Amino acid sequence: MQTTTVVLAGGRSSRFGQDKTRALLGDTTLLDRVLDALPDDADVIVVGEQRPTTRTVRWVRETPVFAGPLAGLGAALPLIGADAFTLIGGDMPLGAPALAQLADLLRTTPVDAVVATDLNGHRQPLLAAYRTAAVRAAMPADPADRSMRALLHDLDVTTVPVEEQFVTDIDTPEDLARMSSTYDGTPARAAREADLVTYYDNEAADRQDNPLPEARVAHRDEFVAQLKAEGRSRLLEVGTGPGRDALAFQQAGLTVSGVDLAPASVELCQQAGLDVRVGSALGLPFGDGEFDAAYTASTLLHVADEDLDTALAELVRVVRPGAPIAIGLWGAQKSRQERWGRQSYGPPRFFALRSDADLTTTLVAHGVIERFETWPSSDGDELHYQWVVLRTPDRA
Ligand SMILES: C[S@@+](CC[C@H](N)C(=O)[O-])C[C@H]1O[C@@H](n2cnc3c(N)ncnc32)[C@H](O)[C@@H]1O
Repeated sequence: MQTTTVVLAGGRSSRFGQDKTRALLGDTTLLDRVLDALPDDADVIVVGEQRPTTRTVRWVRETPVFAGPLAGLGAALPLIGADAFTLIGGDMPLGAPALAQLADLLRTTPVDAVVATDLNGHRQPLLAAYRTAAVRAAMPADPADRSMRALLHDLDVTTVPVEEQFVTDIDTPEDLARMSSTYDGTPARAAREADLVTYYDNEAADRQDNPLPEARVAHRDEFVAQLKAEGRSRLLEVGTGPGRDALAFQQAGLTVSGVDLAPASVELCQQAGLDVRVGSALGLPFGDGEFDAAYTASTLLHVADEDLDTALAELVRVVRPGAPIAIGLWGAQKSRQERWGRQSYGPPRFFALRSDADLTTTLVAHGVIERFETWPSSDGDELHYQWVVLRTPDRA
């Protein structure tokens, strides 16, 4: 369904010293970051001074200029034809992927607005979905210099807590520097892996206590049935975590070996009697053709796009020709690389989320896609799970 999104990019940026929405994060302006992350078919209205952007948008300006976000929204309202719209600040370069979740909830909830909250529970009216008629009714006749919170006061609002990066806005050059070093770009492979080890060493024990989602278990068990039907018994799991799947494979009578980057995960696996060692998907510590099949769930999303071919080639190398490889991943509507995670576990994890089309393009270079299924996230976010069975080339 097409969405209308209003992007507020007309602030004075007094604490930044110059128009912050034109500042660069990596090689892209903050405003273009927001625009690039919106769905391709979104109707986008930008409130601010017109300038070249990476996509076509409609422009509008509040009067008087610099009259604040409520005046900006007020200027955009006459241009909105849809019953509902999403709103985001042009200084929230990582926020756009959260909007779909807010819009979905508004569609199914009888409220005027669905507003994101930060980790402290504070409402962020500039990352929200609104019903157009309700906003029109609540908009003051003169919104200049009035606060967005005043608008929320007159609306029936529900809130949704979102991850920190979605609500992080840029007010100062220091904020931008912090975001660049924490979330932006693709750090070198060694730095990515070092951060993942720290994170998962701290997270492994908690993960062990969480049950796997039903859909994951059902697809894993179907894969086990497929392996049995094909007479395959020696299985490699890459990215075992604390071994929830590996244990199930072993209990199903398969001979399982595994690798994981994080020593704490490996230790938990070994304590459970599993043959798991520390290693990376990018250089598997096994010989050619040692396994009858391979399995990797929610792990290749930590491998950057530039390394995905290497990881897939490694999986293909260590299984017998013609073997099936099951791959589970979180994917997104539009491919993107980013970092996030729960602060208490350590540095934010690197993620490469791929669209179904981009993932398919990479996979077909390594084998034949026998199955490709997806299912939505039960967290209500815009991610979906991608389940693939790839048949490796039969070189025999
Ligand atoms: C999201 S967890 C998934 C763990 C397990 N498969 C599960 O579904 O519970 C990702 C796991 O992949 C591991 N990992 C990340 N990058 C890896 C790499 N390059 N090679 C091997 N393991 C990796 C992490 O240490 C972590 O245990």
